[in-house]
Amino acid sequence: PVPVWLDADPGFDDLVAWLLLDAAEAFTLQGVSIVAGNAPLEHTFRNALNAREFFGLPQPVYAGRGRPLTGELVTSQYLLGENGMASVGRRLPTGKYAGESEFGVNALMRAARESPGELTVLATGPLTNVAQALLADPKLPLREIVWMGGSTDRGNHTAAAEFNAFADPEAADLVFASGLPVTMVGLNLTRQIVITPRDLAQLRAWGTERALLLADHLEFYLCIRSPGVPGLMPFHDPAAALWLLQPESFVAEPAHVRVELTGVLTRGMTVCEFRVPKRAVANASVLTSVVDTAWRDVLMKHLQQSLG
Ligand code: BDR
Ligand code: CA
Repeated sequence: PVPVWLDADPGFDDLVAWLLLDAAEAFTLQGVSIVAGNAPLEHTFRNALNAREFFGLPQPVYAGRGRPLTGELVTSQYLLGENGMASVGRRLPTGKYAGESEFGVNALMRAARESPGELTVLATGPLTNVAQALLADPKLPLREIVWMGGSTDRGNHTAAAEFNAFADPEAADLVFASGLPVTMVGLNLTRQIVITPRDLAQLRAWGTERALLLADHLEFYLCIRSPGVPGLMPFHDPAAALWLLQPESFVAEPAHVRVELTGVLTRGMTVCEFRVPKRAVANASVLTSVVDTAWRDVLMKHLQQSLG
């Protein structure tokens, strides 16, 4: 199995990405480092520990950075609730569970060095932890970084910027400039990986405590755009996990990606130059299309395994 590391800010969709990686036979998830994003670190870390306990996830969980490389902390609490993971009903039971004492950035670096050139990092939050690891060791022997973030077109946190990119643009730009293979799973792609009230009904039909609790949290998520009425929602972070599990369902294209750092209207925008190699040398692979619906079966099969 391919060793993989998750860096996340759970977050409903981060949690589902975690469940998918944990259930995937082709991957061994070695650890989870937590970053501030959807909510401040105290919440995302607590959510991770609570989820680990409730869903019986075996991976060690490490607290990483609570602030972006520069500037102020940006969260999505206004949308997702104070802890970044509200629910319409059952709530993740909370306990005084302890995480690992090692700093998340150090744990990620250690894991990379333990299997040089083999570790894939799936990052589903702002890239602060990953960037700090690369600042500490620019030659960190990672195999690749797959990131849910950015967009080839419109944003969601601002008109131009996707949330994870906006929350730490300096970190994202540093990762794209690192020379490591980077795959961007941006909003242009994740808008095509939607979950629907039908998927929720499916989860509820499984009837287990785990499935019902996740369904209550995801129902809140499905109501974000239309209060009280579950609608369609892009499943951002699971989309990036599905790229690892089911690459046949997607098209990736080489591009040169830079992140806008100074624009008044465009800070955090991922500027993607697809005219490579004529205009620029590619530094990333950017997911651009979904070609079939096999990803949905893969999603549901792995979820059923985790929740059953
Ligand atoms: C990203 O922002 C967060 O709210 C989600 O967890 C996802 O990682 C989507 O823009
Ligand atoms: Ca996330």
